[in-house]
Amino acid sequence: MERSLTRDILSGMFIVSTKASACVVDTVMQVSSSKEPLISVSVNKNNYTNECLKKNQKFIISILSKNVDGNIIKTFGFSSSRDTNKFKDFEYIEIDGIKVLKDVVGYMVLEIVDVIDVETHDIFIGRLVSSQRFNNDDAMLYQYYQEHKDELLKVTTKNNQTAFVCTVCGYVYYGDTLPPDFKCPKCGVGREAFEKR
Ligand SMILES: Cc1cc2nc3c(=O)[nH]c(=O)nc-3n(C[C@H](O)[C@H](O)[C@H](O)COP(=O)(O)O)c2cc1C
Repeated sequence: MERSLTRDILSGMFIVSTKASACVVDTVMQVSSSKEPLISVSVNKNNYTNECLKKNQKFIISILSKNVDGNIIKTFGFSSSRDTNKFKDFEYIEIDGIKVLKDVVGYMVLEIVDVIDVETHDIFIGRLVSSQRFNNDDAMLYQYYQEHKDELLKVTTKNNQTAFVCTVCGYVYYGDTLPPDFKCPKCGVGREAFEKR
């Protein structure tokens, strides 16, 4: 089957964080070019981060590097801050009450100037007020993530067990096969949303 052309829109890999929430995003774009440019990010209305962004004036975008610990993508991209303390196992700093991972290329602090409703998502537009670079690592592209996601998201299994991973929330089921009527106990999706590892 022909690959969707939207897969050829090149983008990067980021963490958007605000007070009480953070998640992986690939939809970040610089949309103006003054001294303090505007930067947009598109966040799904079902994500807790969307709810938190609407209650806050500021957010932070961190840039993930090619060398990032895959557990960061697993934790921040497949579980929700609603019921998980995503920063628990990682080193972080705090800027104005917003947590920022240390294992990133750098981060940008943004003040929200506009929010645009775009059906499934909201686009949050922020003015870049400050930033800090931690290292000169290459930034990870979304396409790199797609090509390497098996190794980045790999699950460590004990005794060569087979693992089935929920592609929606990251829940792992161990066993040779998934039971016929299996539903994810964490997020409720059916067995078709599980990938064998
Ligand atoms: C590679 C990748 C890219 C993603 N891009 C976006 C995105 O651009 N916007 C978005 O709202 N969610 C995106 N997500 C999904 C969120 O990270 C995911 O739903 C997360 O669990 C939401 O967490 P929260 O409930 O704490 O906000 C992406 C996930 C991955 C793995």
